[in-house]
Amino acid sequence: MRVRVPPPAPLLFFRKVLREGKIDSYMIKGRWIGEATMKIIHTPREMQKTAQQIRREGKTISFVPTMGCLHEGHLSLIQIAHEKAAVVAASIFVNPAQFGPNEDLEGYPRDFEHDEQLCRETGVDLLFYPTPENMYLEEHSVWVNEESLSNVLCGTSRPGHFRGVCTVVAKLLNIVLPDFMVLGEKDAQQLRVLRRMVRDLNFPVAVVSGPTVREADGLAMSSRNKYLSPAERAEAVCLFRALETARELFSAGERSADRIRGAMRAVIEKTSGRVDYIELVDNETLEPVQIMRKPVLAALAVRFSGARLIDNIVLQ
Ligand code: PAJ
Repeated sequence: MRVRVPPPAPLLFFRKVLREGKIDSYMIKGRWIGEATMKIIHTPREMQKTAQQIRREGKTISFVPTMGCLHEGHLSLIQIAHEKAAVVAASIFVNPAQFGPNEDLEGYPRDFEHDEQLCRETGVDLLFYPTPENMYLEEHSVWVNEESLSNVLCGTSRPGHFRGVCTVVAKLLNIVLPDFMVLGEKDAQQLRVLRRMVRDLNFPVAVVSGPTVREADGLAMSSRNKYLSPAERAEAVCLFRALETARELFSAGERSADRIRGAMRAVIEKTSGRVDYIELVDNETLEPVQIMRKPVLAALAVRFSGARLIDNIVLQ
């Protein structure tokens, strides 16, 4: 059975009935989803040629870069991408350049078959899935470095991380040639760093952001959540609770960053998680604030034995 879905399509529901075999395909904005239309592309040159052809046809492209192991957070960005442009491209690439020497590059979860199926079910048109060798030639020697927003929060505990992110996203933008790039607010610092890169290097792309998708208990969805033990998974909601505590204090009129941070820390310290950082920073400059007068980004990173988790909200 084919079902025509009026926009805005309740994508998650139709994906579910598609998978259960209750329908064969569904239509969003004139396109049948679920039929074998998705193209998987492995090399930068072929991706670039495909994108150039699409642009010659006068169609717009929106792009969702990912490292795979897709979850509902990624899929919500694909849904936003559908709303923005005629053609939806996604990439799956576990980018070695953004992992430090002691980080989880080897162990980072990979499941291409599962990701491919989700991309088909959500109507991705082009899936770019390169190898590390295709992305970084042996003599690769050019890097993109954002030198202000990258130096705080995750930049402190993950030196070189944002250089790797900026470099790969600059490359992906040159390869996929999108009109829109959709990024998640879950990675608040990454979003701000990449907006800055796009602005300062004049990339002809509009950056669109999507809200953080959470599990029922509030834990932000993340590919790394699966590395938590059952006990740690239960405790991991503490990041969300700490942010809620911050929001409650702020709503009640508290404006001292130190007092709010103290209350957040107390929530985390009740668990086995170790605080990597808890920061209240200016939402635009990411500079620390003492008295909260302008919109403030409340961000934290907590290490469990299975994974390091991050989360954030904007207080305004
Ligand atoms: P990855 O962690 O796979 O995330 C891909 C995109 O999904 C990012 O924009 C991220 O912010 C967003 N995302 C992750 N979890 C989310 C959630 N729970 N709700 C909403 N959006 C969420 O971020 C990266 O990959 C990489 O650094 C990348 C940008 C692809 C460069 O390598």
